[in-house]
Amino acid sequence: MLFDPLRRPHTTRTITGPRPRSAVTVCRVHPSPYLLFVELLPTRSMPDLAAPSASPDADDEPAAGSVGTRSRFAWCITGSGHFIDESMALAARLPACDLFLSAAGEEVLAIYKMSFEHLKPRFRIFRDKTASGVPVGMLYEDVYHTVVVAPATSNTVAKCAFGISDTLPTNMFAQAGKLGIPGIVFACDTEPVVVTRSPHDWVTLRPRQVEFDNVERLRAIDFCRVVASPQQLEAALNERLAELSLAWNTSSS
Ligand SMILES: Cc1cc2nc3c(=O)[nH]c(=O)nc-3n(C[C@H](O)[C@H](O)[C@H](O)COP(=O)(O)O)c2cc1C
Repeated sequence: MLFDPLRRPHTTRTITGPRPRSAVTVCRVHPSPYLLFVELLPTRSMPDLAAPSASPDADDEPAAGSVGTRSRFAWCITGSGHFIDESMALAARLPACDLFLSAAGEEVLAIYKMSFEHLKPRFRIFRDKTASGVPVGMLYEDVYHTVVVAPATSNTVAKCAFGISDTLPTNMFAQAGKLGIPGIVFACDTEPVVVTRSPHDWVTLRPRQVEFDNVERLRAIDFCRVVASPQQLEAALNERLAELSLAWNTSSS
C-alpha cells in the first residue's frame, strides 16, 4: 500500500540532538513512508525467531505512538548471505524492530528461503522501491532510536564508509548519522579467510585489502559502531538496549 504524500503536510523542522559540529541544518522533510509486501518463495524454518512481544504493527504507518518518540530499531538487511541467519535471529529478539531491505537484500532473503510470509508477523518490512529512499522520512519523524545494518555486504560497507547513499540501507545509515542517531554495522568481510554458506554449499572467500580498508574507514564515521561477528553484534545490541533501558524479547512461542 502506497501512502498518499499529500495526506500529510510537508514540515519544516530544526534538527537538534547531539552533533559533532556547530552547524545545525534546517531541512524540508517529506514524511511519506512507503511500504509494500511481496510474496516470495516457499519458506524454510527461520533460525530461532522468537515471537514478538506484541501483535504486529500496521502495514503502512509508523506504529501508533512511535512518531516523535524514537522508540524503534531500524534494521537494514543487505544482500549478504554471510551471517544472515544469525543476524535475523538477533533482529527477531529485539523489541519494536522494523526491516529495511536493499534490493539485493530482498533477493538474498528469497534465495535463502526466508519468506516475507514468515517475516511479516514479526516485522514491518520496508522495501527499496524509491530512488530517494522515501522510508528514510521516518527518521525525521523521530520513529527510530538506532539503525542497524546487519549483515552488511562489502558493497554497503564501502558506500557507508565513503558517504554514498543510493540504496535504502545506505540512505538510512547516512541520514541517521546526520541526525545523531547511533548506527551499528555488522561488516562481514573482516578476516583474511571467510567461510560462508552459499545457498547450496559452504564456500571460502578471501576478502581483498580494499575490503579491510573500507571497514577501517567506516570505523571513523560519525555515530557509527562497526562489529565483526555475531557475538560482537549481540554485545553491541545489548549495550544499546541497556542505554535505552530496554530488554530483549523473551517470548519463544
Ligand atoms: C546468494 C548470494 C549471497 C551473497 N552474499 C554476499 C556476502 O556474504 N557478502 C557480500 O559482500 N556480498 C554478497 N553477495 C553479493 C551482494 O548481494 C551484491 O554485491 C549486491 O550488489 C549488494 O547490494 P547491497 O549492498 O545494496 O545489498 C551475495 C549475493 C548472492 C546472490
